[in-house]
Amino acid sequence: MKAMNRRRRIYEGKAKILYEGPEPGTLIQHFKDDATAFNKKKHEIVDGKGVLNNRISEYIFNHLNAIGIPTHFIKRLNMREQLIREVEIIPLEIVVRNVAAGSLSTRLGIDEGTPLPRSIIEFYYKKDELDDPMVSEEHITAFGWASPQEIDDMMSLAIRVNDFLSGLFVSVGIRLIDFKIECGRLYENDMMRIVVADEISPDSCRLWDVESDEKLDKDRFRRDMGGLLEAYQDVARRLGILNENEPVAGTGPVLVK
Ligand code: TMP
Ligand code: ASP
Repeated sequence: MKAMNRRRRIYEGKAKILYEGPEPGTLIQHFKDDATAFNKKKHEIVDGKGVLNNRISEYIFNHLNAIGIPTHFIKRLNMREQLIREVEIIPLEIVVRNVAAGSLSTRLGIDEGTPLPRSIIEFYYKKDELDDPMVSEEHITAFGWASPQEIDDMMSLAIRVNDFLSGLFVSVGIRLIDFKIECGRLYENDMMRIVVADEISPDSCRLWDVESDEKLDKDRFRRDMGGLLEAYQDVARRLGILNENEPVAGTGPVLVK
């Protein structure tokens, strides 16, 4: 605990903290138990959420790396932390949607659950003061947040992630409705490439049970449905990350394989 506190804190966000890593070019990403929504207007501590997101995100990023989708992820270090490559985060949230839900349903008046004619990619400008407004490629290039080439790279990464995640989740009885990724610039020698960064977890995806449409994601918190932790544990169990008889994470530690 003491050693952890002495580490240099690089950045603290709503759900994660970044610390200086053990070697230059690395960082430690720490998952907190904070659940927030609507730009922190709603905020609660959910005991054990950080542990679950650390494990779920590790599982997904390991698979992305293995199939050649570049990410910032190196390895998980402990219950709440992972070692990552330091990247320059592009200030955009890239959302991919397969089925209408959330802000798309509200904005365009399309019933939640309506399959979209094709997957849709949207960009949001990461700016808390503005509540992350949706932006177009015109805004992104005009204001220099990313170049046209980088936008192409982010879109192709997003589509590859969507293909992988859709298959992964459907194989465990979960429908991937939509999700968000963030990308970063990874500088290696004289080269720069765009990689998937941040996390991919039930905080950043909409996941519905294939049979019942039950929500297994952060909408349970956003919409005051309760059972957030149980839903995340269900996702982890289905992915084979947690053991069947795992106790619900509470004050005690969660057993990991
Ligand atoms: P939305 O329907 O609220 O725009 O959300 C689309 C997807 O993006 C959904 O899977 C949740 C995720 N998301 C985040 O990860 N962070 C955010 O700040 C928001 C607004 C959405
Ligand atoms: N993550 C954002 C927040 O903390 C919004 C959301 O996910 O709904 O406010």
